[in-house]
Amino acid sequence: MKNWIRLGLVFFTLLTGASARCLATPVGAQDTALRKAELDEMLRIFPRSLAWEQWLKSSGELPPNFELLPSYPYLPNPFRLDDGQEVRSRAQWIQRRQELLQLFQHYTLGSVPPPPGNVRVADIKTRHEADATVQAITLEFGPEHKAKLAMELILPPGPGPFPVFMTQDTHYRWAMAAVSRGYIGCVYAGADSRDDTGGFVPIWPDYDWSKLTRRAWAASRCLDYLCTLPIVDRARIALAGHSRNGKVALIAGALDERFSAIISSSSGAGGACSFRFFSEAQFGEGIEMITRVFPDWFHPRLRFFAGRERKLPIDQHELIACIAPRPCLISTALNDPVESVWAIEQTFYAARRVYSWLGAEDAINLRYRPGGHETRAEDIEAYLDWLDTKFGRRNLFRASSPIYPTYADWLQADLWQ
Ligand code: GCU
Repeated sequence: MKNWIRLGLVFFTLLTGASARCLATPVGAQDTALRKAELDEMLRIFPRSLAWEQWLKSSGELPPNFELLPSYPYLPNPFRLDDGQEVRSRAQWIQRRQELLQLFQHYTLGSVPPPPGNVRVADIKTRHEADATVQAITLEFGPEHKAKLAMELILPPGPGPFPVFMTQDTHYRWAMAAVSRGYIGCVYAGADSRDDTGGFVPIWPDYDWSKLTRRAWAASRCLDYLCTLPIVDRARIALAGHSRNGKVALIAGALDERFSAIISSSSGAGGACSFRFFSEAQFGEGIEMITRVFPDWFHPRLRFFAGRERKLPIDQHELIACIAPRPCLISTALNDPVESVWAIEQTFYAARRVYSWLGAEDAINLRYRPGGHETRAEDIEAYLDWLDTKFGRRNLFRASSPIYPTYADWLQADLWQ
C-alpha cells in the first residue's frame, strides 16, 4: 500500500514539476499517511532523543514529503532562485539571499524577530584597567524593554573612531588581544560561560529560534548600541567565535549585514562544514549527532534530515554565501575531531563561487593550524593579522592553501595514472 502512495506522489511531482527548494507541498491524506509512516520509521531507526520526541508531540510536526524535495547529493546551487531561474543580476542575488535566509530559518535556525529598534542602556559601570577604559553595560530592549543583555566594552585610549572586535563572553582574552592592537573589544553574554539569551524566549513567544540563533541575534543588539557611539568605526566591526561560537558568528554574519567581517574558528557541523560532506557517514558529527547531543542549538526540524542530507534544501556554503562579499575567515585545525578539512574545503570552494561572482574572491580565506580543537595564542594573533589586513590597517596575513582538489578538478583528473 505504502508503495502505491509513493508512486502516486512521484507522478504528482512529475506532473506538477513540484521541485522548488522550499516547503514540500502537502497533497492531502495520502501525503499525511506517507509522512506519518516516514516518522514512525525514523523513530524506530534513529537513536532516541527525548527532546525531539517532546517537540514532535508539542508541535505535531511531520517530516517533509521527501518525494517532493529534490535530491542534491553534491551541494545545492546557491544561484538557483526558488522559481527555478538562475541568478544573473545583483538584484536577483539580493532576492536569492533573502530566500536562503528564509530557508535557513525554516530548516536549521528557527525564526528571528525583527530588530526591536529600541535598544537602550539600562546600566553602565566604568572602571579603568591599565590604559583601557572598561564599561560593563546592561542593554535593554524589546516589548516594554523586558529583554536584558550584558555586554562589556574595553576601550583603548584616545578619541577614536576605532574598529571593533566583538566576540562572546567565553573569548574575553581574544578581545583583550584586539584591544592591544587598537580595537575596541566587545564581549557579550551570548555564550555558555554567560548567556542572557534564554530570557528572550518568553518575551518573543511567536518565534521558534534556536539557542545559537538567539545568541547570534543578541550580537546584533550589541551592534545596535555600538552604531550609536561616535567612538566606533561603523565600517569596521568584526564578530569572531570559536566552535559553537564560531557557528554563532556565521549565523550572525549571515543575518546581519552590518557585521563587516566574520571570523569563524573551528565551527564544524552547522558551521563551516556542510552537512552533506560531514556527517555520521564520514564518521563525523552530522545532523543526527548534533541534534541529539545539543537538541536546542538548531531547530528540531533539522533532525528530519538525518541520513537524508541530500534532501536538505540548503547547506552551509549558502549560509557563508549570505555573508559575501564581506570578509570571512574560516579557520580549522588539521586534526580537529569535530571538523573535517575535506568538508571545510568543499564548503569553502562552494561559498567562494558566490564571493567570486560578487567580485570579492579574496575576501574569503582559509586558515589551518596544527593539532586539535583548541586554539593557541598565536592562532588568535593570526586571526587579528587577518582582520588588520581586511580592514586595511596592515598587511600581515597569509591564507592557507586548500589541500584537496575541487570536485570539478577531480572529475577532470586522470584517476588511473
Ligand atoms: C562539541 C560539538 C561541536 C562544537 C563543540 C564546541 O564538540 O560536538 O559541534 O563545535 O562542542 O563548541 O566546543
